[in-house]
Amino acid sequence: NCKVTKYEINDVQYEIKRITQKLKKFLENSHTVEFEEKLLKELYVFNNKNFPVPEYKYKVKRKEIDENKYGLEKEKEFLPFFNKLVRDYNIKLRQDNEDSFLGKWYTQHIRDEIQFVFDEIKKIKNTETKKIVSVILSRTIRSCRATTHADLATLVEPITTTYYCSKHGKMCKPLFSILKWWETYTKDTVKRLLQFDNLRKDVFHTCLKGDSRTIDIINGLNKTNPNFAKLVKEQKIKGIFSSPPYVGLIDYHEQHAYAYDLFGLERNDELEIGPLFKGQGREAKESYIQGISDVLINTKKYLVNDYDVFLVANDKYKMYPTIAENAGMKIVNQFKRPVLNRTEKDKGAYSEIIFHLRDSK
Ligand SMILES: C[S@@+](CC[C@H](N)C(=O)[O-])C[C@H]1O[C@@H](n2cnc3c(N)ncnc32)[C@H](O)[C@@H]1O
Repeated sequence: NCKVTKYEINDVQYEIKRITQKLKKFLENSHTVEFEEKLLKELYVFNNKNFPVPEYKYKVKRKEIDENKYGLEKEKEFLPFFNKLVRDYNIKLRQDNEDSFLGKWYTQHIRDEIQFVFDEIKKIKNTETKKIVSVILSRTIRSCRATTHADLATLVEPITTTYYCSKHGKMCKPLFSILKWWETYTKDTVKRLLQFDNLRKDVFHTCLKGDSRTIDIINGLNKTNPNFAKLVKEQKIKGIFSSPPYVGLIDYHEQHAYAYDLFGLERNDELEIGPLFKGQGREAKESYIQGISDVLINTKKYLVNDYDVFLVANDKYKMYPTIAENAGMKIVNQFKRPVLNRTEKDKGAYSEIIFHLRDSK
């Protein structure tokens, strides 16, 4: 809903400016900025010497350099310098309590900055402004997890030291401050809100939260916008465009664990269809087929007779024909869609299919 809500943009901009200034003041009082500048300078010299562009990557490609071995050697070579800087500037890397996601996946200073901004957000009076600025903080902290660049989408182990980065072919460092991402996302979000404001049409729109296998759409709409509920009941819904989860690829709750932790949201892990933790075995696939079929069956009562349903999926296991059949639908068309902009850019592009389904009668 945050993408389509109407905001008082001036108020949003005012609060962003206020918090950014306060965050900068907060940073002035710490050594982190100085520490990071010094570290970046040293890394720059070290990388130029040991990972010259583009020769280094050519050599790796031609197998003249064993990337794993060389990377590890260089990591070890740089580490004493990093450790000395940490001591000199008295930087605390890990947090004392690592039980929660926020405790484990953020360096101490980042965690302090997150809390600082969060406390500032609590002071915002306008409820809508407060919500959108919270979403900006959530986007920011997603980018600030203590992980390597190569493992951004699938967290492996928290990293708090400099490391050899196979994605960039040089030594990289974890983040020590949220400021850069906070500024990036505040600007980007305001830009998007203004852009959408120009495109906005005089229509109802909403996002209902719930399990799509069982959610009662009319009931949900009635709570926030009875006129919308009445329209849907009378006219029915013309179609669906959806990107459902795919079998055994992602644990969505885990991927956004930082937000559940920070905002104290209730988790519903067990309601996820096709989570990673269930894998891609026979049972997982059967439960996935059942799950998506149930979603489609649930939606049918809200749809017109000649509905169109579009589902985006990378159907490696050819489950969608069965799903369509279970739901009394038929696949009438398939469009190929290349996926180019992945979070983990080195993991290659792949293509997905957009299935176009209609009623089988
Ligand atoms: C491929 S993502 C699509 C994300 C979507 N396009 C968006 O922009 O938010 C699949 C989404 O389905 C959600 N999901 C999984 N099981 C669900 C269920 N039973 N009911 C509703 N949503 C579910 C996941 O949490 C995830 O957000």
